[in-house]
Amino acid sequence: MSLKKVAIFISGRGSNLESLLKKRDMGRIKCEIPFVLSNREDARGLQIAEEKGIKTYLINHRDYPVRKDFESAVLQLTEKHEVDIIVLAGFMKVLSAYFVRTFNKPIINIHPSLLPSFPGLNSQNRALEYGVKFAGCTVHFVTEDVDAGPIIGQEIIPVFNDDSEESIALRILEREHILLSEALSIVINGNYEIIGRRVFVNHDKD
Ligand code: GRF
Repeated sequence: MSLKKVAIFISGRGSNLESLLKKRDMGRIKCEIPFVLSNREDARGLQIAEEKGIKTYLINHRDYPVRKDFESAVLQLTEKHEVDIIVLAGFMKVLSAYFVRTFNKPIINIHPSLLPSFPGLNSQNRALEYGVKFAGCTVHFVTEDVDAGPIIGQEIIPVFNDDSEESIALRILEREHILLSEALSIVINGNYEIIGRRVFVNHDKD
């Protein structure tokens, strides 16, 4: 069977991308990565992909006054490369209903909070300031509503008295790297079923 084609979208540092590439090199994730796309020129992740010999594209949303035109340009790339799955690994641009409907295949996103708590930006610090005792991260399917699609997996960390914005973000990030590869493998293998909002994973098929 041919390998699924997984495009990874980033906007910055690229540590989740780096971790996915490492796991793919180790054979822990089986997929082809036709390209990495960034909407920001200064994304360090672009360099990481290039060093691994992966094709990169920069499509800067600022060059497209109309959002649909930006998204059409991205969609054209996904068609050209026959992408099966999109991973949003720190992609900081919300994809509209038009994009999600037109692509019409799985898009997954990693978010640094236990959704539905703390959607949006700066989630780790908002969780800390709220006073939660447990924080974490979520991988979910992307739907037309931001940070609200069916949840594939979550990882939890305890919050300690001496935690700072930096320490909590770092511990969440370590869990993100584990969770994202596990969730992507589930989606690649197709061993899940979505009923209502619930994602049922059949681990027997792993
Ligand atoms: C991660 O915290 C991810 O959850 C959020 O953006 C951050 C990206 O980090 N969506 P990196 O670029 O993967 O290092």
